[in-house]
Amino acid sequence: MLKTVESKISALNWELGYRLSRLQHSKNLPALEKRDRIILNALKREGVYVTTLADLGLENTPELLQSAHKLVSTMGGSNNQQSQKLPQIYTVTDLPEFKTWGNAPRLMKIIENYLGLPVAFQGVHLRQDLPNYNQFGTLLWHKDSEDRRMVKVIIYLNDVEEKHGPFEYIPLSLTSFPNLNSYQIDYKLWQSGYLGINDEEVKEIVPKSAWKSCPGQAGTVIITDPRTVLHHGTLRTESRSALFFVYTANPPKRPELCTQYWDDTFAKPDIAKVTI
Ligand SMILES: [Fe+2]
Repeated sequence: MLKTVESKISALNWELGYRLSRLQHSKNLPALEKRDRIILNALKREGVYVTTLADLGLENTPELLQSAHKLVSTMGGSNNQQSQKLPQIYTVTDLPEFKTWGNAPRLMKIIENYLGLPVAFQGVHLRQDLPNYNQFGTLLWHKDSEDRRMVKVIIYLNDVEEKHGPFEYIPLSLTSFPNLNSYQIDYKLWQSGYLGINDEEVKEIVPKSAWKSCPGQAGTVIITDPRTVLHHGTLRTESRSALFFVYTANPPKRPELCTQYWDDTFAKPDIAKVTI
């Protein structure tokens, strides 16, 4: 009982501190160009903004793509016959082409305005998701947990049609307060131990017609807050390669969940064997 009260008080203190920090930082937020304010507003309203590398127009994009494609060519898929094929993931945070692109000042300004706090660029995963026929892991509908608000920038490295398992989400307004669905979704997620829920369970709360799939050509960019938006990768019969850039507030709420973006949880490519 005492422990429950203590944890409630601590959560309340944390919440108040978070709100105060955002209020104090509001006067320091960098100004945005009109085109970037559109991205910010979509993130706040919808939880997702879809664009392309060409339209985003950040510097160093050719270098980023060249490095990414060379590394993807070394991944080589998987021959294992397990019923649940895990994605192949490279942590590429320390490679200059990825670090430079991910720290682009324009991108950082958009994210700082969205988070309302100083930004921590946590890192980059190069990820090859493999064909799977059953929902598990990130194929289940879920919300990420690293921070109170966060941003992921996902870049498709190959054309992504339905067979490649596009990113799919439900617009924020349909799953957030004051919509009653938010309670049902959060209860289902809690019941799952926050591991995620399958299509059938989600369909009972939000009709499939409201789900938003994000197919797109290579170079499609999905900017999203995966903490607030219910999302998943859809089942695929062909593999999908993508970059995932991850940003939180500095410091994040759950720093222990962020180490995976720069430590040895996932392999780092042996660049001595890859001519970048
Ligand atoms: Fe996720």
